Amino acid sequence: MAASLMNHLGFRVLCFTVLFIMLPLMSHCADPDPLQDFCVAILNNGSSSIPGINGFPCKPASEVTSEDFFFDGFTKEGDTTNNVFGSALSPGNVLTFPGLNTQGIAMNRVDIAPGGMNPPHSHPRASEAGVVIQGKVLVGFVTAAGNVFYSKVLRKGEMFVIPRGLVHFQMNVGKNKALLFTAFNSQLPGAVVLPLTLFGSKPPIPDEVLTKAFQVDAEVVRGIKAKFGA
Ligand code: GLV
Ligand code: MN
Repeated sequence: MAASLMNHLGFRVLCFTVLFIMLPLMSHCADPDPLQDFCVAILNNGSSSIPGINGFPCKPASEVTSEDFFFDGFTKEGDTTNNVFGSALSPGNVLTFPGLNTQGIAMNRVDIAPGGMNPPHSHPRASEAGVVIQGKVLVGFVTAAGNVFYSKVLRKGEMFVIPRGLVHFQMNVGKNKALLFTAFNSQLPGAVVLPLTLFGSKPPIPDEVLTKAFQVDAEVVRGIKAKFGA
């Protein structure tokens, strides 16, 4: 009886020890490390013959060419006029640049018209670093612990960091166009764009959820939803 109690206790102590060792490791995980030099992605494109996996299968090495490691998606200015925010984001992630598959990195080009903004959003799978190439940009984020708002106006050559998962934005507060490049420690950082997520989801989030959450009338919620096509 005493021996079985000791065994049981020993097992629980072992479980807690393993958990305490693993927790910090788990919470610091970004994309997994690559197991080979490269793995140029074969994008599923909805094909049911390719099994869903966490990432993408590799193109056979014999078919890989130099073109797989270069990307020209940042050469042109994004069109900042076709959305209500006055910004254009050109993604350089595994979906647009399959050579990034398994490398754990991605970048964006962000063009912002004067007065425009890259609206509040968060990246569930990556921290973000960015550099302003042109213009005057207000960059800010809010912490999860205590809702502390950190912000600064940055100019050409200045850099910022957005801790993983935190809500952030960039706003062009200058008179001319702004251009920045951002970098992520994930091949597909994901973006939860708050206005679109909350007011443009399909199907829409019920009005009563949003009226209660934002403490406003249903009319206000419907007005915002109408702007985001819900
Ligand atoms: C900027 O915040 C970006 O996600 O590129
Ligand atoms: Mn971002």
